[in-house]
Amino acid sequence: MRIDVLTIFPEFFKEVFDFGIIRRARAVKIVEINICDIRSFTTDKHQKTDDKPFGGGDGMVMKAEPIFRAVEQLVGTWKRENYPNGTRVILLSPQGKPLKQAIAKEFADEANHIVLICGRYEGVDERVNDALVTDEISIGDYVLSGGEPAAIVLTDAIVRLLPNALGSETSAVNDSFTESLLDCPHYTNPREFRGMEVPEVLLSGNHALIERWRKAKALEKTERVRKDLLK
Ligand code: ADE
Repeated sequence: MRIDVLTIFPEFFKEVFDFGIIRRARAVKIVEINICDIRSFTTDKHQKTDDKPFGGGDGMVMKAEPIFRAVEQLVGTWKRENYPNGTRVILLSPQGKPLKQAIAKEFADEANHIVLICGRYEGVDERVNDALVTDEISIGDYVLSGGEPAAIVLTDAIVRLLPNALGSETSAVNDSFTESLLDCPHYTNPREFRGMEVPEVLLSGNHALIERWRKAKALEKTERVRKDLLK
């Protein structure tokens, strides 16, 4: 998979994709991640990426032209209906569809080229949404200063689901949300720490019993903090 991140703050991404699973996935060419400076797609002397909103109001709006030019170069066309199969152009914004594990899974399974557009300021010229964007995604009901942190979150959620990205094939299957439940608690050495013991069942060697305990704990936690997931 190839992921191109369009941003006016390329420095923001300097090292974030250089750790753990993503670093390894890049090293073994499961994913290629490119950071693209929107400013480099401007053609005017001042390299303007934003302008005042038509109709008035506070703040600035990101201009359509450099974003169209970037997508045109990265995808080969600026018309959504002509994108090659497996291409997703995703706008990160608080107005988007809320990100869920199932959406990350859909992108991981179906896309081979993802372009992430990081919005800034009061918003992005709507013609970007009208012509370029295949999916508008929000990472939660709160407003960030820009789409950059959201692009990092989405990239991480997708890349770890790509075939062979995780060391063990079963790890992603047991993740929180995969079966609409939160994950169960985990323990490692030492068995006793500051008076707190590891639950006896985990030391029993009885795998059926351990599986039942994990399921019960996951259900208990989900009921306590995320009842909405059980509906
Ligand atoms: N940009 C600003 N806030 C955002 C959010 N919650 N999700 C995605 N992109 C954003």
